Parts: sequence; C-alpha cells; structure tokens
Amino acid sequence: MTNIKVTLIAAMSIDGFIAPADKEALPSTTWTSKEDWQFFTRQSKAIGTMILGSKTFETIKRALPERQMIVMTSHQEKYSEFQDPSLIFTGESPEEILSNLAKRGVKEVALCGGSQIYTLFMQRNLVDELILTVEPYVFGQGIKLFNENLDQRFTLVKQEKLNENGTIAFFYKRILEK
Ligand SMILES: NC(=O)c1ccc[n+]([C@@H]2O[C@H](COP(=O)([O-])OP(=O)(O)OC[C@H]3O[C@@H](n4cnc5c(N)ncnc54)[C@H](OP(=O)(O)O)[C@@H]3O)[C@@H](O)[C@H]2O)c1
Repeated sequence: MTNIKVTLIAAMSIDGFIAPADKEALPSTTWTSKEDWQFFTRQSKAIGTMILGSKTFETIKRALPERQMIVMTSHQEKYSEFQDPSLIFTGESPEEILSNLAKRGVKEVALCGGSQIYTLFMQRNLVDELILTVEPYVFGQGIKLFNENLDQRFTLVKQEKLNENGTIAFFYKRILEK
C-alpha cells in the first residue's frame, strides 16, 4: 500500500454514462461543456500526474501540458512513436504504478478513465476521492462510469456549479468504515 491520494475525475451524463454508445454521432468534445474541460484542466494540473487507459488516450493522442500522463496498456510497443517524456506507457498493475510513483515522491494522482481503469482501481480499493462533473445530458445508452459490482461509500464534501446550463462538479470523499 502507498499513501498516494487517488482522485477519480470523470464527466458524466445525468443518467450515469461517461460516453454515449454512438461516439461517432456525439464525440466527447460536443457533449461536455467548455467549462468542464477548463475545470478538468485546472484539477489535473493541480494534481500533476494522470493515469488513464489506452482507449482514453486514443481519444486524446497527445501529451497534455504540465502533466505527467501514465497510460495503461498491455501493448506498449504500439506507442513507440510518442517520445514525449511526459508520456509513460506501462503494463504495470495499479499497485506497481502507485508504488513506483511514491518512490519518485509523487503524493497524488488523477485517475482519468475510462470505465475499465476507473473500475480496476475501485475494485482494488485504491480510490480516495471522486470529482464527478454531471453534464445536463441524457444518453439512454453508453459506457457506464463503472462496469462491475462495487460496494463503497462516499460522502459529498462540496459541489460547484460550473455554468448557467447547470453543469455541476460534485466532490466526494471515501468513507472507510461501514
Ligand atoms: N467522461 C469522462 O470523463 C471520460 C473519461 C475518460 C474516458 N472516457 C471515455 O471512456 C471511453 C474509454 O473507456 P474504456 O473503458 O473503453 O477504456 P479505457 O479504460 O480508457 O482503456 C482500456 C484499456 O486500458 C488498458 N488496460 C486495462 N486494464 C489494464 C491492466 N490491468 N493493465 C494494463 N493495461 C490495462 C487496456 O489497453 P490495451 O488494450 O492497449 O492493452 C484496455 O484496452 C472513451 O469513449 C472515452 O471517451 C470518458
């Protein structure tokens, strides 16, 4: 176990999806608000280190400035074209990633998705805080925030309205004892 704080950051539809089923028709840049992107940028820069899955990286395909990005993949060779030192492609487990970061003095990480990576860290009880931005959008079908059974409790610490349309960021902290 490390003492790195893990903060899961996600934008969600009202009905609990992080991406619509038809991503071609509704790319992530069109359903999330400008204010959510600015909020995400502020939060992730303040934390400094991001962990994400290869499928999420494929939607960005670049290093985001002023952040270290750790991309989880079992196919590191596919990403040899990306030589930016702020991008690390790894097949390590969540525990190994966190332990190596702790050895380098990292104190906190932003867990940036997608569903597979969020679920992996949640299943291993590694998530301390959630920052969920709810966009006033309904998809009906899509990729859920988590894709396995989980049993963890959180308490709402604060909420912040990001724009007039009602995009709201909810900050939750994990309750350890039941
Ligand atoms: N709304 C939001 O805030 C938000 C945030 C992030 C993403 N998203 C959306 O979520 C979708 C992607 O989510 P997703 O669940 O399909 O994929 P994902 O979690 O982004 O990435 C899954 C990939 O991560 C790698 N991986 C998973 N477990 C691993 C392990 N134990 N060790 C090493 N690598 C591992 C595998 O890569 P390889 O196949 O390369 O081995 C796997 O295919 C996209 O549509 C994206 O736009 C939304």
